[in-house]
Amino acid sequence: KKVMLSGIQPSGDLHLGNYLGAIKNWGARADEFDCYYFMADMHTITVRQTPADLRRRTLEQLAQYIACGLDPEKNTLFIQSHVHQHAELGWVLNCYTMFGELSRMTQFKDKSAKNADNINGGLFTYPSLMAADILLYQPDFVPVGEDQKQHVELTRNVAQRFNHIYGDVFKIPEPYIPKAGARVMSLNAPESKMSKSMPEGCVFLMEKPEDIQRKFKRAVTDSDTEHCVRYDREHKPGVANLMQIYSACTGKSYEEIEREFDGQGYGVFKPAVGEAVVDLLRPIREEAQRILADKAYLESVYHAGAEKASYVAQKTLRKVYKKVGFVAR
Ligand code: TYM
Repeated sequence: KKVMLSGIQPSGDLHLGNYLGAIKNWGARADEFDCYYFMADMHTITVRQTPADLRRRTLEQLAQYIACGLDPEKNTLFIQSHVHQHAELGWVLNCYTMFGELSRMTQFKDKSAKNADNINGGLFTYPSLMAADILLYQPDFVPVGEDQKQHVELTRNVAQRFNHIYGDVFKIPEPYIPKAGARVMSLNAPESKMSKSMPEGCVFLMEKPEDIQRKFKRAVTDSDTEHCVRYDREHKPGVANLMQIYSACTGKSYEEIEREFDGQGYGVFKPAVGEAVVDLLRPIREEAQRILADKAYLESVYHAGAEKASYVAQKTLRKVYKKVGFVAR
């Protein structure tokens, strides 16, 4: 069976960008693939966190993964810090990742600009840990949004470098990026990607329907007097973003959407997109709330997940330790 793996940082509440860019493409393939999905809590502490919030959000994220359709019977769901092999392989890969490569990572540049008072070593070497997350499980595909492509490419380079020295240790993974939803933009600032740091332009999975609708009604479009719903990323970024969201929610093509709203204007289009998102998220929200209330169930899921993940991860780690010359214990 082919293997698929991905993770999300529990650094804030999950939003529509996380869902359309990543999670939506995870569950669909559980029968074809051996799937590993985790809460990247170790990555999250590269930026200061309130401990109680991190703990709560990690469990909420797990409940939301399940509510999004990731059946724990078919997918291995785990918490990164429960599988110590991530930190161990992360260290080894640090020694095979170049300072120059890490310096070129756009996520590092963005985050160090935003957190100028805490540019720590972990923030810088974050991509080596991410490479370890991935390579431990020898996945074929890593389903992520556009913004993580650079990290997956670095992972490929590090794996190739390691294999070149020691023989075939790692499978070289491919990023798996969706056609619609790979880069969901902020609703009120469509030149920036949707992120929790700009909450007014961001739709959270657990948000109330009326709040979601309000955000869509206020979404920034453009000053086109015709109010034409047409896909043009460069000249009409706000409309193109709404069309992307609508397409990802309904499966309709851009031509179909243009036809559907022909001559109707933004006043009809925006609430229609809001409605499609509300319909998509309503069952997820209700299911997540139900699951979150069952702490014993969540615990059983992450226990089983960590056990399964550790078993697989240890096989790779053992091979790596041997290759680099560590004495077997
Ligand atoms: P993170 O936690 O920032 O985001 C999680 C996933 O959501 C996608 N995403 C988006 N997709 C479309 N539009 C958006 N506006 C948007 N915002 C976020 C991201 O591309 C990602 O797929 N480094 C990773 C977490 C990670 C990881 C890994 C991922 C750690 N180890 C191993 C894959 C494999 C991150 O910061 O994603």
